[in-house]
Amino acid sequence: MVTLTIAQQAFEIEPDKTLYEALLGQGLALRKACINGACGVCRYRLVAGHIDYRGRTPYGLDEAARREGFILPCIAYPIGDVGLSELRR
Ligand code: FES
Repeated sequence: MVTLTIAQQAFEIEPDKTLYEALLGQGLALRKACINGACGVCRYRLVAGHIDYRGRTPYGLDEAARREGFILPCIAYPIGDVGLSELRR
């Protein structure tokens, strides 16, 4: 288990689930559309830790958004503890 912190709330999540799946499992339904990294609707800013897309490409983020620290929770897996900037629904 790893810790996902978002909007000053901490959740113990399984590292083999995407951040989207993990938060859904906690009863938090995030904004989403494609669930495959293409649209960018689910974007959040990663403020702590690291994620891995496990070979998938975050097409929904342009280079500027990636540099600003945005990630796509629908295809992102945590590498250790992670923090997201805020909770949007
Ligand atoms: S829901 Fe479309 S990129 Fe995440």
